[in-house]
Amino acid sequence: MSVPKNKYSRITTNTLLEMKSNNEKIAMLTAYDYTLAQLVDQAGVDIILVGDSASNVIAGHETTLPITLDQMIYHASSVIRAVNRALVVVDLPFGTYQGNSKTALYSAIRIMKESGAHSVKLEGGLEVRDSIERIVQAGIPVMGHLGLTPQSIYKFGTYNVRAKEKDEANQLLDDAKMLEKIGCFTIILEKIPAKLASKVAKSINIPVIGIGAGNKVDGQVLVLHDMLGMTQDFSPRFLRRYLNLKKEIINAIKKYTSDVKKLKFPNNSEQY
Ligand code: KIV
Repeated sequence: MSVPKNKYSRITTNTLLEMKSNNEKIAMLTAYDYTLAQLVDQAGVDIILVGDSASNVIAGHETTLPITLDQMIYHASSVIRAVNRALVVVDLPFGTYQGNSKTALYSAIRIMKESGAHSVKLEGGLEVRDSIERIVQAGIPVMGHLGLTPQSIYKFGTYNVRAKEKDEANQLLDDAKMLEKIGCFTIILEKIPAKLASKVAKSINIPVIGIGAGNKVDGQVLVLHDMLGMTQDFSPRFLRRYLNLKKEIINAIKKYTSDVKKLKFPNNSEQY
């Protein structure tokens, strides 16, 4: 079924549930700044994730671990000022929710109050159950994140596909059911076998959004800078590049530099 453009004037957690029950796929992308968030929202993406991947693509860190709560709030408030339609989800960064549900609630409240975001995302299953429960009880919508959880990269050791073995796959399915039970409004599944992702999506009523989890889930998410081809040193199988923006940008900047050096810019009509 083709979905009419902008059928929903504003995406809420209820809209997403409705989309899953109507079998309408959910499109989600990251954004970290006002200008690009405006474009993503105008193009009709349903969910904008202010991901802690900002640590990689904006700040140039090797992992998502260094980004701080203050930095996430800065990115989130820039995005919120740009968005009219999409639901905005903000990652709770590493160290702001693990192991202490009171700290987790405090971090989530800071994001909601100081950025104006609509919801938060936490990585993990059983080990973060108390934190998620406490945040949900405070009235803050929570998106879960299972499978490859980049904040645990030093535990995993690699960015390889997760849950290929039976035990880990069973644990992931249990975690997804538990996240639904304690009130998460959606779950991200990252880099797991497509068959398992499909099983999870069929086993729960909340939407399941995949990244490297096949097409039998309720929606897809990609990192904006990756799908636009601004970053090119990262090429997992699941990543489709819709543009080669790196090339376009470098060519434009080369042309500008050459014009300046050859006195071709500015011309007579570009001055006062
Ligand atoms: O931070 C992020 O961009 C994410 C996506 C990869 C899902 O968590």
